[in-house]
Amino acid sequence: MLTYMGRRIATLDDVDVENKRVLVRVDVNSPVNPHTGELLDVSRIVEHSTTIKELVKRNAAVVVISHQGRPLDQDFVSLSSHAQVLSNILGVNVNFVDDVIGPEARRAIERLEPGGILMLDNTRLLAEDTVEAPPEVHSRSFLVSKLAPFFSYFVNDAFATCHRSQASIVGFPLRLPSVAGRVLERELRALNKIIELGEKPKIFVLGGAKLDDTVKVVKHVVESGIADEVLTTGLVAVLFLLAKGVRVPKEVEAKVLSKVSREFFNEARELVARFRSVKIPIDFIVEDKGVLSVSHASTLKGTPKDIGPSTIEYYSNKLSKAKVIVMRGPAGVIEDPRFRVGTDSLVKAALESSAYTVFGGGHFIATVSRLPEELRSKVGHVSTAGGALLYFLAGEKLPGLEALARSNEIFKIAI
Ligand code: 3PG
Repeated sequence: MLTYMGRRIATLDDVDVENKRVLVRVDVNSPVNPHTGELLDVSRIVEHSTTIKELVKRNAAVVVISHQGRPLDQDFVSLSSHAQVLSNILGVNVNFVDDVIGPEARRAIERLEPGGILMLDNTRLLAEDTVEAPPEVHSRSFLVSKLAPFFSYFVNDAFATCHRSQASIVGFPLRLPSVAGRVLERELRALNKIIELGEKPKIFVLGGAKLDDTVKVVKHVVESGIADEVLTTGLVAVLFLLAKGVRVPKEVEAKVLSKVSREFFNEARELVARFRSVKIPIDFIVEDKGVLSVSHASTLKGTPKDIGPSTIEYYSNKLSKAKVIVMRGPAGVIEDPRFRVGTDSLVKAALESSAYTVFGGGHFIATVSRLPEELRSKVGHVSTAGGALLYFLAGEKLPGLEALARSNEIFKIAI
């Protein structure tokens, strides 16, 4: 049974899609090369292909929608390349129409036969899909009013966008019986498991550069007792170092403070003072005028690029005894191979333990793929979600999941 905050969500197991038209909301939002328009990472498309493949196999007529980027940003592009990539992955033709709700899109939907796949263009071409509003409002949007009449079911597979209360996420569930796709189902089961598993210790390893959001996660998991320990890495670690009152080089301090709001800096201060379970690295690999060295955290010299060897040992030792591990954000500047040692070592330590391990963020796919098969097979789950995962771990409500629960209550799909 799939649940969200105690409410039931229906899945693809609860509906008969044979010969039915099904609207599938995926999240294939991917990094794009601004010069060539080429997609730089197609892992989300690979993930969603499993849901689409299953629907085709079950003889549904599958219409796929997604957003890509935000209006005026460089990665705000058409979904034509995504359709091509999806077509290559599935080995079947994916029709693409460069329209979302206009006559061309509606004609293509009407013509689609069971077993066929059609991808519409970027939903954020419509202003409605860029604004936050309640489901009732979005259920009356142009997007939902024009498309809903064509479909028997709405499948939300876009866990990574479920923190948005936008039309393509929350509008359809009030109009159509709506269920979770396989990607959303896998994500939610893995995240529920982190909370529900009774075994301890549960250790969160939190790094990366999304500082405000990560402070929210630290606060929620330590205050609620979900985490027994939080091991900070990456820029998050430097923030907590500063919050503890440790002096760091001026330019490092300026960089961190430019990425965190005053509110969350103060929150971080309070958290390190109140909770001994929030851990800070012992040392870092630093770069100073092009020279790399190990620097103790209390006398930091140069720019931290990765966690240092004593920290790797200290953290790995903790991970070896963990029963649940959640790792989100890299420990260092992993775009540069010289600074991948920390992240790689912690991932290895996590997988060598007997813990149920969840990784958050697409870059872990690459990290995990470098490991030998016996370790790879021990991965509990790799989430491709960014913001949505942080919202979930911070204990905030995800409108997309609430809308699915509500749809199940309205249409009584799975009881
Ligand atoms: C993401 O990558 O986090 C999702 O696709 C949501 O994108 P957004 O932040 O532009 O809403």
